[in-house]
Amino acid sequence: RLYGPDRRNSAGMDISQNAIRKDLAAAVKSFRDSPAISAGPIVNGKVDSGGGDMVRVPFDTEIVLGSVKSADEKHIDQALKSAAGYQVQWDRLGGAERAKHLRAMGDILEENMTRLIALMAREGGKTLGDGVAEVREAVDFCRYYAKQAEADFTGPTRLPGPTGETNQISLHGRGVFCCISPWNFPLAIFTGQIAAALASGNTVVAKPAEQTPLIAFEAVKLFHKAGLPVETLHLLPGTGEQVGSVLIKDLRVSGVCFTGGTSTARIIAKSLADRDGPIIPLIAETGGLNGLFVDTTALREQVIDDIIVSAFGSAGQRCSALRVAFLPHDTADMLVEGLIGAMNELKIGDPADPDTDVGPVIDQESREMLQEYLAKMETEAKVLHQIPAGRIGETGYGFGPALVELKSLDQITEEKFGPILHIVRYDPDDIDKVGAALKAKGYGLTLGIHSRLDSFQIEVRDAVPVGNTYVNRSMTGAVVGVQPFGGEGLSGTGPKAGGPHYLHRFATERTLTVNI
Ligand code: SER
Repeated sequence: RLYGPDRRNSAGMDISQNAIRKDLAAAVKSFRDSPAISAGPIVNGKVDSGGGDMVRVPFDTEIVLGSVKSADEKHIDQALKSAAGYQVQWDRLGGAERAKHLRAMGDILEENMTRLIALMAREGGKTLGDGVAEVREAVDFCRYYAKQAEADFTGPTRLPGPTGETNQISLHGRGVFCCISPWNFPLAIFTGQIAAALASGNTVVAKPAEQTPLIAFEAVKLFHKAGLPVETLHLLPGTGEQVGSVLIKDLRVSGVCFTGGTSTARIIAKSLADRDGPIIPLIAETGGLNGLFVDTTALREQVIDDIIVSAFGSAGQRCSALRVAFLPHDTADMLVEGLIGAMNELKIGDPADPDTDVGPVIDQESREMLQEYLAKMETEAKVLHQIPAGRIGETGYGFGPALVELKSLDQITEEKFGPILHIVRYDPDDIDKVGAALKAKGYGLTLGIHSRLDSFQIEVRDAVPVGNTYVNRSMTGAVVGVQPFGGEGLSGTGPKAGGPHYLHRFATERTLTVNI
C-alpha cells in the first residue's frame, strides 16, 4: 500500500535553470527589502509577535531577518488546553480525513518552495541545493504519512476469534504530542515530526530550535492557511529551558518527539521518567559518530567524491554526516592527496549563491566549539588541511572544512557537529577489530562502505551494525519512503522517520472484543 505505483517523491526544482535562479535571487533579496518577519507563538491560529529577540543571518550577522517573541506560561497553557481539548475530535476524524489535511500541507509547501528555500538560505545558512532537498523532504513526509494514515488509521482491523465473538484492533492518537525539532533541518524535520503526530491522531505543540524560529513560524502559518484546524497545531518558540522543559513536564503532554543532541535526549528521558501520571513515549533521533570503510578495491574518484559530499555537504551539519574515514594503509596517501585536492575545489560562501558548496555553521557557539576542537587536534593529532573560510569567516560564522588524521580511534569519543573529517589508517584484514572499536563508541546511525568485494561489505556490516548503511555511494540525504532514516544506541530510539513503522510509535492500540 505504501509502495504502490502511485507513490512518488516531490519533484523539487531545478536550480541550474536561469529563470529559477532569478526567482530565488529575488526571494532572497526580498528579505532585505521588505519589512522583517515578526514572529512569535501561534496559539489557536493567533499570532502574538512584536518586541521579540532579533534573528540574524549566520552568513552575515549584519543582516536582521526578523524578530521572534518567546512563548510564555500563558501561551503554553492555552496551547495545551486547546490541543488537549480537540484531540479526541481529531482522532475520531479518522486517517482518511486527516490524510487530506496532510496532503494540503504538502501542496502548500510545494507552492511556496521558492520563498522557503530563500528563507532557509538566510536563517539556516543552507545552500540552495540543500534547501530544495529540504522542501522536498518536508513535502514527502506529509504525503508519505498521509498514505500511511489512510492505510493503517482508517477503521479497525478485524481479527480472528471463536464463533459468536468479534475481535478487532484499531490505532489511535495518544493525545497531545510535543515536537521538539532541530535547526539543521528547520523545515523537513519540523514538518516531519508534526505530520507524523497529526497523521496518527494526535494534536501538536511544536517547539522549534532557537536558531531557526522564522522558518517554523512561516510553516505553521502555511499549514493553517491550507485548512489544518488551528486547534491541532500550536507553535511555541523559545529556549529549551523556558519552553521545552515546561512542556515535557506538563501532564497534558502524552508523547515527545525530539531530534537533536544525545545529551538533550537523555535530559528529556530523565524528566519524563520523573513525571507523575502516565508513562509516555519519547521518540528521539540524535547524533552519530559515523564511519566509512574503504578497501583497496574501491574506486578512487568515487571514494573521494562521496567522502567530500558526506563529510562537508551542509557544512557537516547533518547527524548522518561522515566523521571518520578508515583508509587502507596501501592507498591512504593517494586518497588523502585526492581529498585535499577536492577540498581545495570547494567554494565556501553565501549559501544563497547557487555556486556555493559550503555555507556557514549555524552560530558563534558552534564555530567556537569547532575552532577549539581543531586547535586541540593540532597538538594531539595532525591537522592535514583546512580550507579558508574566506569572507564569511569575517561577516558571519564561516568555518573552513578541515581534514584531521588521528593516531588512533581512541582520540575521538563524541560527535563534533560541523565540517571536520577525521581519517584513520587501517588494515582491511583487521576489519573485525577496527569495526568493533567503532561500534564500542555506542552510536549507530550511518555507515559507509567502499569496496567491490561482497565479502568485505558483509564483514563491515556485521562488525558495525547501524540504522542506515550505504555501499559505494555517499552516506547522507536519506529519501522518505526509500531510505527510512534513524539509528540505534546513542543515535536514537527509532523508529525510522519516513519508514513504514514510524506512525505506530505515535499511536496507541485498542482491541475490542464483542460476544454476540
Ligand atoms: N535525514 C538526514 C540525512 O539522511 C539527516 O538527518 O542526511
